Amino acid sequence: MDIIEAAKEYVANLFLGNAGGHDAAHTLRVYRNALMIEEKERSGDPETVALAALLHDADDHKLFHTENNQNARSFLASHGVDSEKTERIVAAVNSVSFSRNRGKRPDTIEGQIVQDADRLDAIGAIGIARTFAYGGEHGRGPDDSIAHFHEKLLLLKDEMNTETAKAMAEERHAFMLAFLKEYARETRAETPTDQKAADSGVLSDRKPFPLTVKG
Ligand code: NI
Repeated sequence: MDIIEAAKEYVANLFLGNAGGHDAAHTLRVYRNALMIEEKERSGDPETVALAALLHDADDHKLFHTENNQNARSFLASHGVDSEKTERIVAAVNSVSFSRNRGKRPDTIEGQIVQDADRLDAIGAIGIARTFAYGGEHGRGPDDSIAHFHEKLLLLKDEMNTETAKAMAEERHAFMLAFLKEYARETRAETPTDQKAADSGVLSDRKPFPLTVKG
């Protein structure tokens, strides 16, 4: 079995029983996004990108109590990856976290690609699905989850590093705006007059959410 297949199997086992936002399926989507970006950008080391994408949540602090990327490092060591490459992969992994890297551009192209790949999975249709799944898990209803779009998700398209990810993010962003507009139309209009106003893009002041979203 080659190291990529072994890494897929490793994360599948690692995330066993985790149905939240950071599960094996998320990891595989990030991996696919990363390969897509890598192929179009034609820069960076493909194996470093692939392994960093597959291992990017292997030491997520919300799920694992490891220090210094222990899970990722022990996987790489057991598959004979040399220390130079290991450091490059770990650096890329560590540049992914949104909260720890806000506004910081990763130093390496591999880090930039994997960060983009992870952020793409937070927006668009999958981003919408993950937001409500996470909200439900934490006892939040739909309206509370909507706030997360304004706090984070609608900001992500402007934080992409690569041209390929920027183009992918534009499409996903437009889809979220369309969703938010329709959500507001369906949930905020209480009378037929409101509905008319909502349809024409104007909503009265007493409504808690703006119908037209910036972006
Ligand atoms: Ni992730």
